[in-house]
Amino acid sequence: MRKKNWRIVDKGYGASLRVCGLSLGSMLFIGCAYGQGITGRWVTYGKELWNGQREQAVIVLNKQGSQISGTFESLTGKTNIHGTMVGKHFEIFAWDQRTPSLIGDVADEELKGLMFGRPFIAKVALPQDEIPKVEYIAPPPLHKLPYNGLAKTPPMGWNSWNYFGENVSEADIRAAADALVSSGMRDAGYIYVNIDGTWEGSRDSEGHLLPNKKFKDIAALADYVHSKGLKIGIYSSPGPYDCAGYPTSYGHEQQDADTFAKWGIDYLKYDWCSAEKIYRDDQIRTVYQRMGDALEASGRGIVYSLCEYGRDDVENWGADVSGNLWRTTDDIRDTWDSMIGNLDKQAAFARFAGPGHWNDPDMLEIGNGGMTRDEYRTQMSLWATVAAPLLAGNDLQKMTEETKATLLNKEVIAVDQDPLGKQASPMRTGNLETWIKPLADGGVAVAVVNLGPSEATATISTSDLQLHESPAHARNLWTHEEVQFQAGKYSAQVASHATLLLRVFLAATSPPPHGLSSTF
Ligand code: GLA
Repeated sequence: MRKKNWRIVDKGYGASLRVCGLSLGSMLFIGCAYGQGITGRWVTYGKELWNGQREQAVIVLNKQGSQISGTFESLTGKTNIHGTMVGKHFEIFAWDQRTPSLIGDVADEELKGLMFGRPFIAKVALPQDEIPKVEYIAPPPLHKLPYNGLAKTPPMGWNSWNYFGENVSEADIRAAADALVSSGMRDAGYIYVNIDGTWEGSRDSEGHLLPNKKFKDIAALADYVHSKGLKIGIYSSPGPYDCAGYPTSYGHEQQDADTFAKWGIDYLKYDWCSAEKIYRDDQIRTVYQRMGDALEASGRGIVYSLCEYGRDDVENWGADVSGNLWRTTDDIRDTWDSMIGNLDKQAAFARFAGPGHWNDPDMLEIGNGGMTRDEYRTQMSLWATVAAPLLAGNDLQKMTEETKATLLNKEVIAVDQDPLGKQASPMRTGNLETWIKPLADGGVAVAVVNLGPSEATATISTSDLQLHESPAHARNLWTHEEVQFQAGKYSAQVASHATLLLRVFLAATSPPPHGLSSTF
């Protein structure tokens, strides 16, 4: 069971139905009042959220000839829209310029059809059908924050989003903590148990953010997670709502940081979401700085994960707001194209990664079922060579042996967690892409991924490895065997979408295992 909310690029809104009245009281509604027009102001209400709020969108449309223009606004985002109408049928583009986001017909003074792939009916909006307005709070002047001393190697753990989506509950988090222990993942380094969005309820009379009915007591949950030798993460946004429409830290940054510290939170994922309705992209840094300051002032060491999809060249300033990791991409999906697309974007960012501050190509999909064994091994191999955070995103209670073996490959984890903290850079030859990661012992990890549709021969030459001395021996990190280089070269067959992952050791740092002579 894999449950995700519906996404508008990175903003959530799920539409369903509500019956509401028709108003003739404003010029805005004239098109609708005439029966089959589309010009006007429309409203659609979605599902009830776990905190009792309802999803809502207001759509303003203006038709000129066959062309439609206007705006779409939900709790989490606002954008200009455009499209066409032929007869009663409309097709309207919002964030995605390739696929129409609203498709349907005008009938009986309603818009009926699919909105972001889900059935919707929009009625003529009444004056009270408004998206709540928020007062603009100017971001603070820029300054540089000190390093918080955390995440000296890429954070490892588990996050609820990729599998549970909006339905994650306190029981799921406790079960995930138990499974991290019983599966051996904790002992392999996966120590963070991270609650993603949709835990939020509402604010009390003093402004403290409370959990919704899925979470009873987060401080008690944190105690439970800590009692297992694990750490706990939580999620918020600099905007008024998270991507699914739940209240977040806008205007309450210090109060929320203090609440998280009081609860015993160790990790905060701070997701841009509805902040885009309030701030320009060139204000993102100061907005993230505000929470960086708040976390520092809270007095608790909290890993700070910036999730703003790589906007405003976050790699240039993420560490200066005391970010320990920053997303460099849009959301990952459980497909080869999405995973490889996110990986490819890392190439440009290698020099920005290092102990305490990491590029984040998003979480692991290993075990979620959308990719093959080889493709999941590719994700693990490549995430390790680019020193990415390793945050599992699957159902830890129902892992196959294959999933466990992939996530628990300690030789691959050691590459990811190497204390030198270097991120690999790629070289491309046809369909084969080679990523070379320098390691603290002077050796390297080399990953060759076959991006093509059929098996190919990968050849690794020691001359490409930029080593300072002769290599002594090498291991295949998936077969756990020594491999033999002949005259400075090693070749192997690599299946489509699989990755050959070797670790090459230097003579000085790591002699060949007993009984083996140098293989170079
Ligand atoms: C954004 C983030 C995701 C997840 C969802 C939750 O899309 O990028 O990782 O946190 O929000 O709504």
